[in-house]
Amino acid sequence: MSNPKRYTVTAALPYANGPVHIGHLAGCYLPADIYVRYLRQSGKDVKFICGSDEHGAAIIMKAKAEGVSPQQIVDKYHGIMQQAFTDFGISFDVYSRTSKKVHHDTASEFFLKLYNKGCFEEKETEQYYDAEAQQFLADRYIEGTCPKCGNENAYGDQCENCGSSLSPTELINPRSKLSGAAPELRKTKHWFLPLDHLSGKIKDFLLEHKDWKPNVFGQCMSWLDAADGLQARSMTRDLDWGIKVPIEGADGKVLYVWFDAPIGYISATKELMGADWEKYWKDDETELVHFIGKDNIVFHCIIFPAMLMEHGEFILPTQVPANEFLNLEGQKISTSRNWAVWLHEYLADFKGNQDALRYTLCAAAPETKDNDFTWKDFQTRTNSELVGIYGNFVNRVLVLMNKYYEGVLPTPNSLEPVDEELLKEIEGTPAKIAASLGKFRFREALASYINLARMGNKYLADEEPWKKIKTDGERTATIMYVAAQVCGQLSQLGDPFLPFTAAKLRSFLRLPLLDWDACVSRELLPAKAEIEKGDLLFEKVEDEAVELQLQKLKNSKPNEVEVVEKDAVIEPVKEEVTFDDFSKMDIRIGTILTAEKVKKADKLLQLTVDLGMEVRTIVSGIAMHFKPEEIIGKQVSVLANLAPRKIRGVESKGMILMAENSAGELTFAQPGSQVDNGSVIR
Ligand code: MF3
Ligand code: ZN
Repeated sequence: MSNPKRYTVTAALPYANGPVHIGHLAGCYLPADIYVRYLRQSGKDVKFICGSDEHGAAIIMKAKAEGVSPQQIVDKYHGIMQQAFTDFGISFDVYSRTSKKVHHDTASEFFLKLYNKGCFEEKETEQYYDAEAQQFLADRYIEGTCPKCGNENAYGDQCENCGSSLSPTELINPRSKLSGAAPELRKTKHWFLPLDHLSGKIKDFLLEHKDWKPNVFGQCMSWLDAADGLQARSMTRDLDWGIKVPIEGADGKVLYVWFDAPIGYISATKELMGADWEKYWKDDETELVHFIGKDNIVFHCIIFPAMLMEHGEFILPTQVPANEFLNLEGQKISTSRNWAVWLHEYLADFKGNQDALRYTLCAAAPETKDNDFTWKDFQTRTNSELVGIYGNFVNRVLVLMNKYYEGVLPTPNSLEPVDEELLKEIEGTPAKIAASLGKFRFREALASYINLARMGNKYLADEEPWKKIKTDGERTATIMYVAAQVCGQLSQLGDPFLPFTAAKLRSFLRLPLLDWDACVSRELLPAKAEIEKGDLLFEKVEDEAVELQLQKLKNSKPNEVEVVEKDAVIEPVKEEVTFDDFSKMDIRIGTILTAEKVKKADKLLQLTVDLGMEVRTIVSGIAMHFKPEEIIGKQVSVLANLAPRKIRGVESKGMILMAENSAGELTFAQPGSQVDNGSVIR
C-alpha cells in the first residue's frame, strides 16, 4: 500500500512459559519496535499489538515440569515478560494475554462463525495416544524425526529445523514427550479447516506480495507447491487447558492454540481501542504487518489468512517481515539447556545499558539468514562504535560548546565545502533511513544512522576546533555550530534504534522529539540555542564482563526443567556378563586431535582420535555438550573394536566413552594422568 491510512503492527505473541531472551528480541520484538517508533515519529496512526500466548502444549508441559498448574505458569511468566519488554523499550500500545475474557469471547465467536458457515469438516481420525499418561498426544506432546529434513527432534505440529508444518502421524519414530513411550493410535473427533478449496485464493493473495522478504515469500511458495497440496488442519485438540470448543458434543476439547493465538491480535486491539477497534482490522486502507520469527511463517502467511478469508470480514496481512534465528556463540539458543542470554539477567549485569544490546542485536540481526551473537562482538561494537565514535563525538561537542561558549550555540560564519558536505548528509539521512525501514532492512537503516556519528566524529578530528580556537575564533564557531547539528540529528533519528540514548541526548540539547519529516533540516539547533554539558552516553564493556558472561554460558547446564523431567536416580546395574563377554571389548586410551561439527546435525561432532596404532575418525553425539575447540588435545577412552557405522555419511570407527549423570550431563571417561595413546583398559 503506498499511503495507508493506518497501521496495525503485531509482534508474535510469545508463549508465557519462560523469560525473554535475546533470540526473541532480535527475531521479532526489536525490529517491530524500531518500525513502530519510526511510524509514530512520522505521524502515522499506528497500533503496536502484542501479548502473552497462554494456551497450548508449551504451557502445559512447562506446568508439568515445574509441578504447578498451567494458570500458575502463565501468571508467573506474563508479568516477567511484560517487564522485560518494558525494560528494553519495546513500546507496545497493548500487551494483553490470551487468558482474558475478551479473548476467550473473541476466539469463540470466531470459531462459531466459521462453524455456522460450514467451514469446518468434522472428522473422526486416529491420533496418537499415550496409554500410560492417558492422553492424546498433539503438537509438542509428541516428537520424532522430521520426514522432510531428518531432524530427530521435530514436534508433532512443526519442525523447527526446516520450518515444515507437520501432523503427528507424519513423524518417523514418534515418541511421547510425557512418558517417552511409543504411542498407540486411537480414534477421536475433531474439527478440521480444509484448505484445498482455498488454495487458489491463497496463491493469489501470496502472489500479490512478491515484495515480501525473499525468505518469507520463498517459504510460502514451497508450501503451495508441496506435492500433497494444502492439507486440512485440525483446529481443535483433546486437552483440558485452553478455550473450550463452543459447540455441543465437544466436551474435553479446546481450540488449537494456533487457532486462538493469532485471534489474540484482534482481542488485544479490542482491549486497547474499545469500540474503535474495527477500523484496525476491517478497513482496506489499514496496513496489517505481522513481525514474527521464521518458525511462525506458515501460520501467519497461510493458515491465519485462510481463517480470515473464511470469516470474511477481515483484512489480510500486507506484510510479514519474518526474521531467521539468532544463535549464541555458535550454538542454537536453547531454553532447556540454558544456552541463552536472558533479558532480566543482562539487565542485572549491564544496568542502564539496554541500548548497547539493542544496538548489537539490530546490527547483527538475523535478517536474511541465521546469525550469531557473540559477547566479543557485543564488546567490540559497544566499545568501538558506541563509546569510541558516537559517545566520544557527542561528548566532545557538548564539552567544547560549554568550554568555549558557555553552552550557547554560536552563529556560524561562512561555510566551507566540508561543512556543506556534512550538512547535506544530515539533511539526507532521514529519507535514507526511511527507505531502508520501508523495506524492513533494519541493519542498513542502523548503518545509515551510525554513519552520521562517524562522519561527525571524523569532521571534528579533521577540523580540530581545539587547535583553531587559539588562532581562528570565527572558523571555530562555524565548526562547532555544524557539529552541533549532527548531535541534533542523532538525538532525533535515534529514537527508533536507541530510544534511551536518544532521549538522554535530547534532554542535553533541550530538544523535544520532532516529526521525522521535520528532521529533513540542516538546522535542528539554531544559533543561540542553549545546550547542557550532559554526561557520558555509553559505558565501555570491560574484558572481565565478557569473561564473566562466557563463564556463565560454560557453566550453563540443563536447567531446572530438564532436571525435574528426568528421574534423578542412579541407573540400575545391568544383567551380569561373563569375563569372556567383557574381554571381547577392546577399550583404549586415545587423544582427540581434531573436532568439528557435522553439518546439519546439531548433536554430532566429527573427531579424529590418535589411538597410538592409528588415527581414527569417530562421530560422537556430544555437540550439545562440548565445543570443538574445548576438547581438542583431551585424552579419552575409546571402544576400539565396535563395528564401524556410517553416520550422516561419515564412517565412524569406534565410540568415545562418556560418563552421564542423571541430569544428562556428560564428562569424558578419562585416565587420571597422561598415558600413552593406545594403552588398554582392562
Ligand atoms: N506463541 C507462538 C510462538 O512463540 C507465537 C504465536 S503468534 C500468534 O511461537 F500469532 F499466534 F499470536
Ligand atoms: Zn524438518
